[in-house]
Amino acid sequence: MSNHNTFYAKASSPALNLIKNSWRTRKYLFLIPAVFSAWSFLLLISFINPQFSLETLYSTGGDGDDLSIVTTETNSISYNPIILDPLPPLQDLFVWPPNIRRPLCLPKIFVYPDSAKMGEFQVTEVPPMGTNYVAEQILLKQLRDKASDVHKNYVTENPEEADFFYVPFLGSKYLADCWFTKGIKGDCDVDEKYAEPMMNHIQRDYPYWNRTLGRDHIITHPMDSTSLYYKSRARMQNATFLTTVGDRRVVFGVDGRSRRYGDIVIPSSTALINLAHVNGADYLTVDGQPKSGERDIFLLFGGRYQDVKPEDSYSSGIRALLFNGLDQQPDYMIASSWSNPEYIGLLTRAKYGFAPQGYTLDTTRIWEYIAFGVVPVVIADGIIEPFEDDLDWDSFTVKIRREEAHRMDEILRSISAEDYEQKRQALWSYGRQALLDHGAWDLIVRALCRKGRLEGMRTITRDQHEQLGADTLILRSQETLDAYL
Ligand SMILES: *[C@@H]1O[C@H](CO)[C@@H](O)[C@H](O)[C@H]1NC(C)=O
Ligand SMILES: *[C@@H]1O[C@H](CO)[C@@H](O)[C@H](O)[C@H]1NC(C)=O
Repeated sequence: MSNHNTFYAKASSPALNLIKNSWRTRKYLFLIPAVFSAWSFLLLISFINPQFSLETLYSTGGDGDDLSIVTTETNSISYNPIILDPLPPLQDLFVWPPNIRRPLCLPKIFVYPDSAKMGEFQVTEVPPMGTNYVAEQILLKQLRDKASDVHKNYVTENPEEADFFYVPFLGSKYLADCWFTKGIKGDCDVDEKYAEPMMNHIQRDYPYWNRTLGRDHIITHPMDSTSLYYKSRARMQNATFLTTVGDRRVVFGVDGRSRRYGDIVIPSSTALINLAHVNGADYLTVDGQPKSGERDIFLLFGGRYQDVKPEDSYSSGIRALLFNGLDQQPDYMIASSWSNPEYIGLLTRAKYGFAPQGYTLDTTRIWEYIAFGVVPVVIADGIIEPFEDDLDWDSFTVKIRREEAHRMDEILRSISAEDYEQKRQALWSYGRQALLDHGAWDLIVRALCRKGRLEGMRTITRDQHEQLGADTLILRSQETLDAYL
């Protein structure tokens, strides 16, 4: 048989014969009522369920994209959410974020005593000044205050047994005194008169720096340029810096301001909270709500924005959005500044507080929001918040990417009342632990435990550590516990 015949033989199959026969005998006429009834059936179905169409029939069988269109856009069938039983609680060691009262390790910290050899400035009385940059003074005071929980938990008077050495460097105080009190534009010879003598004394008059080339030493740099203010910064680099600048962007890593694995990011102080000593809790109920009325300001922001253009490097242009529309929203409260009493009043009434980047990604106002139970809205791509390894920042803040910043109003208004309330409560009962005058040292020490590979250990002496008991708790005075948790 030829190939042609093979083909023909296959084509004259029984099915083909059936078609030929029905054509001849006009049996195809039965198709007319059949098609008609199928069509009526489809009409009936689409009447019962208006979302139904042949398109949906096909697309459910299609690829992933079609499926998502069907389920999220064209399918508005109401459904009851499936609520399952919650999972059983985990053992403490498997929980994140951790209970901060359970220490990760209990190291010993030695604080170098003040000396005129550190530079005259270290022992001179400096008049108090209005500045946001006093975190270094607060942290040092807590270490040295023999009555403080911090001192009792971590400080040793004996350098021979210490794991870590705290350098009482107050460079930000020196510079703030120079700039804000004396009104001098230069740096008041901070290197010659202060940073050099300080590092000389630590590195030459004690044996401890050279033992590890400074790796177990701690220096605090709470201003925007961290150690970059000092020509003598190379002598400090091996120490762990406590800084308020936490930044993953390339430019801040390259110039050395933010060292992802060299620094520990700490909260900033603010003039309102740490100098005027305004305690948010005094102005709110125990649940962190206004004493009368409710939080009726949707979003609060006080700071620089009016001269900012979208293409500016300051705040990566983000603050320009405020001047271009958002400040006209009736429930937004936006201005360059307010007096302290006015600002306190607004903080008690605000739901959200806007925390866009400025010169740096962090802004001091976030600490005022936290102290007053105002949920921060952070726009600062690449920010490293203080104590991210131990605090769940997502639970009490809203983060928006710069590329979505123009949709901020829509994004915030789509957060449900329940979700907002959950964040607000997490902030009040949990987020406030990060504040400088509350649990900051406990969180700094957790980071030191990781750096020194001391997890699970309690220090007897520098060379001798023992296992930390599983039920060990950090000492906290009743006063602290009452004030915050
Ligand atoms: C530590 O090393 C530096 C540089 O070598 C030296 O100048 C200094 O005197 C040393 N310190 C001590 C206490 O020996
Ligand atoms: C810092 O550490 C390096 C070694 O990594 C060392 O060469 C240098 O001298 C140290 N700097 C100081 C000031 O100790």
